[in-house]
Amino acid sequence: MPVAAVSESGMSDQNWQIRPERAEDAPLVELLNAVSFGPGRYAKSAYRLRDGVDPVASLSFVAVDGANLLGSIRFWPVVIGMEPSLLLGPLAVQPDLRGRGIGIALMKHAIGEARALGYPSIVLVGDEPYYVRVGFARLAPGRIKFPGPVDPARVLGLSLAQPNAMLTIKGEVRRARIDHPVAADGAAVAG
Ligand SMILES: CC(C)(COP(=O)(O)OP(=O)(O)OC[C@H]1O[C@@H](n2cnc3c(N)ncnc32)[C@H](O)[C@@H]1OP(=O)(O)O)[C@@H](O)C(=O)NCCC(=O)NCCS
Repeated sequence: MPVAAVSESGMSDQNWQIRPERAEDAPLVELLNAVSFGPGRYAKSAYRLRDGVDPVASLSFVAVDGANLLGSIRFWPVVIGMEPSLLLGPLAVQPDLRGRGIGIALMKHAIGEARALGYPSIVLVGDEPYYVRVGFARLAPGRIKFPGPVDPARVLGLSLAQPNAMLTIKGEVRRARIDHPVAADGAAVAG
């Protein structure tokens, strides 16, 4: 069911909504990610975990205003050490609509769904000052290891077990599964 965006004051003062991503949204989501992250995005370590793997369909959401795509969030399934987890991202908002709370609203909605689905944790590589707003915290350097170089200051995690719980996961971050083996060279697979 679509979720009306609600401001900090609790008043519904926006026309846009958050709803699950549909198959027909995919080309626009890809375009938004291309505009937001550029061609260099595929070289990032996080993409080694996405090669050949579909995003978690039940955690892919879009912010829309009618037929217009305003923002998008997706998650990829990963395994850290022996535990299942989620990799947050890409998260992107149309350049001319940033700063209106769309990014935070997409994250809050998706984090709530991930918790309801029983996922224990979420990790990401990103800007701490932004993600701290939805509860992420920097992980101790070396606690989790991505398949490739990442800035340790940008490795963040969130426990979904209970509010403010310490994140106990540690180990290598690996793909949880492969959906498209032909495209799946280059990263270790769990199990
Ligand atoms: C990052 C992004 C998703 C934020 O979306 P948004 O809808 O503009 O974010 P919100 O409106 O919910 O939040 C805006 C607030 O977060 C702050 N913020 C945004 N990006 C930030 C960042 N990278 N670091 C620190 N603060 C940030 C803004 O300054 C603003 O602060 P304010 O509320 O005090 O004015 C959007 O800027 C974007 O698509 N960027 C390009 C893609 C990208 O970098 N994605 C994140 C990957 S790490």
